[in-house]
Amino acid sequence: MPDSYAVIGNPIAQSKSPPIHAAFAASTGQDMVYDRILAPLDGFAAAVEHFAAGGGRGLNVTAPFKLQAFAVAAKTSERAHLAGAVNTLLRVDGEWHADNTDGVGLVRDLTVNLGVDLTDCEIAILGAGGAVRGILKPLFDAGVAAVAISNRTMSKAEEIATTFSHYGPVEAIAPDGFGTRRFGLVVNATSLGVGGAAVDRFPFAGSIFAPGAFAYDLIYSDRPTAFMRWAREHGAGAASDGMGMLVEQAAESFALWRGVRPDTKPVFTMLRPGG
Ligand code: ATR
Repeated sequence: MPDSYAVIGNPIAQSKSPPIHAAFAASTGQDMVYDRILAPLDGFAAAVEHFAAGGGRGLNVTAPFKLQAFAVAAKTSERAHLAGAVNTLLRVDGEWHADNTDGVGLVRDLTVNLGVDLTDCEIAILGAGGAVRGILKPLFDAGVAAVAISNRTMSKAEEIATTFSHYGPVEAIAPDGFGTRRFGLVVNATSLGVGGAAVDRFPFAGSIFAPGAFAYDLIYSDRPTAFMRWAREHGAGAASDGMGMLVEQAAESFALWRGVRPDTKPVFTMLRPGG
């Protein structure tokens, strides 16, 4: 019988993970199946145990269960702990190990796929939610020199700056407090723009983009996101949405489960025919 994997969430029908992992399995010759599990909002742990009892080997965890997944795990990686969220569960010797591959997925997309040199780079990150906690340490590990975090609610940006200051210089800046500061890479980690919000709703200073800066949105969409359009209007030289991060975090989970790293390029082509 093939080894069994799944993505678990609520809702789950929209998840792109099953076709992504099916493509990885086919290209690496792994004998596995990958399904969707719709867990009841109050039944995450029971659904995970049911999956394990049936021989399940690994799970991707998505909203709204990324926090609850800590409670089912016997071990947690440092990066999941720091992120405060779990996106991957791995069955090891009859227990679940929790991990988070989102941050390394972002770094791989930026550096390998998009050719952004993070070494000694100063980055601005817009937003201070869960997503930011997942990406900061991987960014410093990749050589980033300093990070400025801006958020509508300043106290959240300040709290993150304090928590992550062991890993590198992180400062909190008010959305209108950038003055003449310019950045070569600006990452949108707010949920603004989900559902097609208007470009003019961004509360951040449009002056933050250095000439030719790279703008990266953690959100992905079939069309350029509101942040991508806003960034281009304010001088960014290139902009990308987060589809690559989605594919790369999946590849990292796959590598944890199967011990083999799939080639991600064919999966991009599958998800975005025509580039
Ligand atoms: P995630 O886990 O995806 O990071 P989250 O924790 O809900 O999601 O964080 C959402 C982020 O989007 C926050 O930084 C939030 O700002 P606040 O902390 O001030 O709430 C930001 N955000 C959402 N809607 C926003 C809006 N209309 N204007 C500015 N920022 C917004």
